[in-house]
Amino acid sequence: PAPGWTTSTDVVVIGSGVAGLTVALNARKAGLRAMVVTKAVLDEGSTRWAQGGIAAALGEGDTPEQHLQDTLVAGAGLCDEEAVRALVTEGPDAVRRLIEAGAAFDLDEDGEIVLTREGGHHRRRIAHAGGDATGAEIERALVAAIEADPGLELIEHALVLDLLTDADGHASGVTLHVMGEGQRDGVGAILARAVVLATGGMGQVFEATSNPAVSTGDGVALALRAGAEVTDLEFVQFHPTVLWLGPDAKGQQPLVSEAVRGEGAHLVDADGVRFMVGQHELAELAPRDIVAKGIIRRMHAKGTRHMYLDGRHFGAAMWEHRFPTILAACRANGIDPVTEPIPVAPAAHHASGGVRTDLHGRTTVPGLYACGEVACTGVHGANRLASNSLLEGLVFAERIAADLAALNAAGRLPARTVNIGAAQAATPVPLLPARARGELQHLMSAGAGVIRSAESLAATAKGLADLADPARGADPSVETWEATNLHQVATALTTSAALREETRGCHWREDFPDRDDAHWHRHVVHPLAD
Ligand code: SIN
Repeated sequence: PAPGWTTSTDVVVIGSGVAGLTVALNARKAGLRAMVVTKAVLDEGSTRWAQGGIAAALGEGDTPEQHLQDTLVAGAGLCDEEAVRALVTEGPDAVRRLIEAGAAFDLDEDGEIVLTREGGHHRRRIAHAGGDATGAEIERALVAAIEADPGLELIEHALVLDLLTDADGHASGVTLHVMGEGQRDGVGAILARAVVLATGGMGQVFEATSNPAVSTGDGVALALRAGAEVTDLEFVQFHPTVLWLGPDAKGQQPLVSEAVRGEGAHLVDADGVRFMVGQHELAELAPRDIVAKGIIRRMHAKGTRHMYLDGRHFGAAMWEHRFPTILAACRANGIDPVTEPIPVAPAAHHASGGVRTDLHGRTTVPGLYACGEVACTGVHGANRLASNSLLEGLVFAERIAADLAALNAAGRLPARTVNIGAAQAATPVPLLPARARGELQHLMSAGAGVIRSAESLAATAKGLADLADPARGADPSVETWEATNLHQVATALTTSAALREETRGCHWREDFPDRDDAHWHRHVVHPLAD
């Protein structure tokens, strides 16, 4: 639909998690006008659900080099080493700046940051807040900073639809659908000198996920429509341990942080056997893909739908002090981790791939940037190291703001396009009905989930194609746009997973069980080459 209203700014940031808010705050410090657009309310996205923490070489004896090595090992050969180096070397100061900005991390009696361990880390390296409420504290601090800046404009309850580009193909704004009352209700446009995607993940393409309902891959879908390169979509990380709520549980599932294993809880089967011991030198703290696979294999061997995480030896005081969020979620669901093992199973958790960027967060469309989970900066490779994602959001958001500031200072940020008539929106797509969402999630979990094969992926691809019957185009609404975005992302993901005929990182092909460096030490990039 044609935009009913138009507004303008210098930098429009889509998304309000750690990445988006950090870009906006830093762009403001550089003297740029900034506007944050978010689909629900400011703190609704994935950041506030992050439990374990944020990884950085802050501990005595730890170094960015050791953090780099652990990140490269987890990434199974596909990390961009330069991007990882930027992450790990700039990470410690980025965390310190976050603390200066007001985020209250857990400190010991000497005022030093307390560090825990998670899968794939050879050291205690994870800073946390409120025990297991790290993301909530980071989000609180950033939202407070945003609210303290009256010059920063904010549009909540607005789903961004498509990228606008000027005659030179430079990003010049976005169209968006605002829900609710007021003069901005309906479809509008924001004209801007640069556009930053920070829309988060796509966990909602699967039936069971740790991601909130808003994680519908909107940024990746927008980028696909705009022709920006999107890569590594097949590498979806399944968190080994969400609370198992029964065979029919769907949507967002309560996370049981890796930090619980980091503090010494054991994964056991129904007979109490620690099945990860002997599978990897780090046992329960092996990289995430290895633990998720270990759980699934044991589930298959035992014919069960879940395993158990046993932290009874922590005692009540430690559970209450260190893991209050998880304790409350378990108790709300009738499980008491103090006296019984927690039933757990893997669920979709993090997209390692996304919109391809360079070291400054620039995508392949000039003027379009991406950071946070929507981006593929190259730091995660085929499998993200635990607690590297908040750090990635922070570090690359700072890099984007620095790039914008430098371009502005050099007079190289283009002037704003003066009217919507001069801007081009990406090609419109027929919209899917809202009810397609459930069917799509089922298809994806059945055929493109933790374990994949040519056969299962072909069945999912066919089901997705059947869902996309253009004759069934639905009326525009947030629900139909979300279903459409999920469908575009799911289709690209399934294609990538079918092409990658090997097993690597979090991409597990039953029919190609080995890593194949001879053929697959490379990335699948959309749009696909002919
Ligand atoms: C967790 O707390 O287990 C999540 C950490 C992460 O996904 O990085």
